[in-house]
Amino acid sequence: MTSSLATVAYIGAAILFILSLGGLSNPETSRRGNLYGVVGMALAVLVTIAGPRVAAAGVPWIVAALVIGGGIGLYAAKTVKMTQMPELVALMHSLVGLAACLVGFASYVDTSIQYTGVEKTIHEVEIYIGILIGAVTFSGSLIAFGKLNGKIGGKPLLLPARHWLNLAGLLVVIWFGREFVNAHDVQSGMIPLIVMTVIALLFGIHMVMAIGGADMPVVVSMLNSYSGWAAAATGFMLGNDLLIVTGALVGSSGAILSYIMCNAMNRNFISVIAGGFGGGAPAAPKADGAAAEPQGEVVPVSATDTAELLRDAKSVIIVPGYGMAVAQAQHTVNEITRTLRDKGVTVRFGIHPVAGRMPGHMNVLLAEAKVPYDIVLEMDEINDDFPDTDVVMVIGANDIVNPAAQDDPTSPIAGMPVLEVWKARTSIVMKRSMASGYAGVDNPLFYKDNNRMLFGDAKKMLDEVLVALKG
Ligand code: TAP
Repeated sequence: MTSSLATVAYIGAAILFILSLGGLSNPETSRRGNLYGVVGMALAVLVTIAGPRVAAAGVPWIVAALVIGGGIGLYAAKTVKMTQMPELVALMHSLVGLAACLVGFASYVDTSIQYTGVEKTIHEVEIYIGILIGAVTFSGSLIAFGKLNGKIGGKPLLLPARHWLNLAGLLVVIWFGREFVNAHDVQSGMIPLIVMTVIALLFGIHMVMAIGGADMPVVVSMLNSYSGWAAAATGFMLGNDLLIVTGALVGSSGAILSYIMCNAMNRNFISVIAGGFGGGAPAAPKADGAAAEPQGEVVPVSATDTAELLRDAKSVIIVPGYGMAVAQAQHTVNEITRTLRDKGVTVRFGIHPVAGRMPGHMNVLLAEAKVPYDIVLEMDEINDDFPDTDVVMVIGANDIVNPAAQDDPTSPIAGMPVLEVWKARTSIVMKRSMASGYAGVDNPLFYKDNNRMLFGDAKKMLDEVLVALKG
């Protein structure tokens, strides 16, 4: 394939990626967006293999790698549970970072193209920055993977003088960058490159270890952005325009998502990028001791009584959380919604931006169960409506409905906007026990006078509620 034909195909693939991102921004168009992405990526891979930069002798190697990598990817995608998706995504990000590092080292030792003068400096800066971003993405994503699947505890690791440590690391990286670019040959350049890689790996670990449980959503989207920049850096090293464009698209959309997540968590974007935000020591308790143990009594409710409350209500808001995903209760939720709407009850959904374990987690589940999009509302759209709501059904959610975020300045989730479900006439929380959520924080909602607890697996309890509703 000629290079001009390859360029035309690359432009086509880049347009498909942009259409894909546009489609993925809305549940109604997301399938189409996904399809654009698949077609764009298939085109990009085929054109790269058939393009002028790949020698015929290398094609069998690439095909073998594609079959093995594609097979593993297919197996992972088929077997992964919906609740494990965030960990899988974190693992994928780490692979992008690893690829950037490997390509960086390979381009440095590859002497088949001789760069001189300014071109040599630019190429070396590309390699240095590419490996730097790749190493941070690689180690940070591996730690995020461990935190998301529970192998590493959610408690933030706060080293003394951690910001000074980060600053010292940055200065050493800049210093070794100068040494690297001034090195006369590959051997002498290798030492600063390796030292920087080790510091970047340690920084990635330190950055994510310092993040507290409730702030993990921001880290996931931030590592998503980093993986995009790592891919763009790989594109620069390889001189591949499409990889630069694709990496920049992922990097910038990930950055926008991180910004949205920061707003949702009421965190500062700059301190996120600097790392170790949000996990600091909580504010001092109020002098009057307002931030005390939850007050009140826990009142359990049965499935039959829940059905009764729902049947008598004029307006109902359903707040789904991670437990709905674990229980795979979305189809029963849809059945209950239909039944209630048939009886003339107004039913809507309130979706918190960080409900579940990945951005859009609840929207995906509800769309899968065919819940109409127009009754699924974002937190900001519905939060003012709780005082006029008869019954709120909280299904497997915890942190996102925790009033301590507003009332307790000592809480690790203090300041995080939450769905104000306690303002409804009655709230019913469905979960299996009194256990805390992802952030490990007690929830005073469970003790409020107007709250009822429906204990049990969400799917099982909702099935019972549905039977009682229809009976
Ligand atoms: P959580 O606060 O994690 O609460 C989920 C609750 O579901 C748990 O308290 C659990 O209580 C209950 N549960 C689990 N399995 C259940 C089942 N089979 N049936 C019924 N209940 C079940 O979830 P949330 O309210 O959705 O908040 C999300 C949290 O995850 C936030 O802290 C957020 O920061 C964090 N996070 C979010 C993301 C993204 S991007 N969304 C990424 C990483 C972390 P029991 O054990 O008592 O049943």
